[in-house]
Amino acid sequence: MGERVLVTGGAGYIGSHACKALKRAGFEPVTFDNLNTGWAEAVKFGPFVQGDLMDRAAIDAALAEWKPVAVMHFAALSLVGESMKDPAKYWRVNVNGGLNLIEATVAAGIRNFVFSSTCATFGDQDGVVLNEDTPQKPINAYGASKKAIEDILFNFRDAFGLNHVIFRYFNVAGADPEGEVGEQHEPETHLIPILLDAIDGKRPALTVFGTDYPTPDGTCIRDYVHVMDLVEAHVLGLRWLLEGKGSRVFNLGTGKGFSVREVIDQARLVTNREVPVVFGDRRPGDATALVSGSARAVEDLGWMPERSTMPQMIRDAWGWTRQPRFTE
Ligand code: UFG
Repeated sequence: MGERVLVTGGAGYIGSHACKALKRAGFEPVTFDNLNTGWAEAVKFGPFVQGDLMDRAAIDAALAEWKPVAVMHFAALSLVGESMKDPAKYWRVNVNGGLNLIEATVAAGIRNFVFSSTCATFGDQDGVVLNEDTPQKPINAYGASKKAIEDILFNFRDAFGLNHVIFRYFNVAGADPEGEVGEQHEPETHLIPILLDAIDGKRPALTVFGTDYPTPDGTCIRDYVHVMDLVEAHVLGLRWLLEGKGSRVFNLGTGKGFSVREVIDQARLVTNREVPVVFGDRRPGDATALVSGSARAVEDLGWMPERSTMPQMIRDAWGWTRQPRFTE
């Protein structure tokens, strides 16, 4: 077995795909997850510790038992809408939980930390292309909670030499094309799985949230990245840290934006089925357009987001949508 990595949130959508990529790259992913939103059946690629980041002793015990060379921190609450209604929950779980993990990591003598941050830390910036140096101005508690962990990581780098790679994800989509893991949230709030379920008759229709945005077709624009490409970047980021290259922030997107209407059109083409759609009001907390400048990951890490075309992401998500899903 290769070097171990503690993967918080390894039972979730992105974390489980990351475990698969880590295993394939020769590492041993040890999942730490409370299964609040994750699935035990998604933990297929290494050992599983069921634990909660609010429980510092549980984190200390997992680090002492498994002695990882690095920590990858995916576990978090991640619903923009919910964070607007219950900000305290987001500060408590994402920030207190994250701080517990960071403190435990340093106390265990580990100096490599990979963190899942988000383009939601940028807020709504009038359609400018967002690069790593764009000032962050979150407009919802979710984005604010992720930015807080970024700030904590900078402080811990300076105080304790904890090296970090921060990845700011744009919109993650698609699934493992081999069908071992895929995207399954309850409740599901993301555009592509919802529209595929609507096509498949698992829900009556997709509601488009707002058609009066200042974009060419009136719907929001997002930059979609394939989950398999995204997790490959994590393997590269881990190697970056293990090679002693120091702390670095990377945006993970493709630099190309798709409106909600464009995603719907592509889904119709890929599945060759009509998409049942109704038009509704804007969703609170949604930014108009979020598009990444992602040259840094390509240049520094040699990242090649080859699967991140809209047809490929929809095709792989569609494959997962139509197979039996996780039940526990
Ligand atoms: N949308 C709809 N109808 C739906 C669901 C989504 O019209 O039923 C629209 C949204 O309004 C948005 C776009 O589709 O314009 C994408 O929405 P998602 O919910 O799929 O993704 P978000 O852009 O809201 O959220 C994603 C990540 C968050 C991250 C956020 C940054 O899931 O973790 O990007 O804004 F914080």
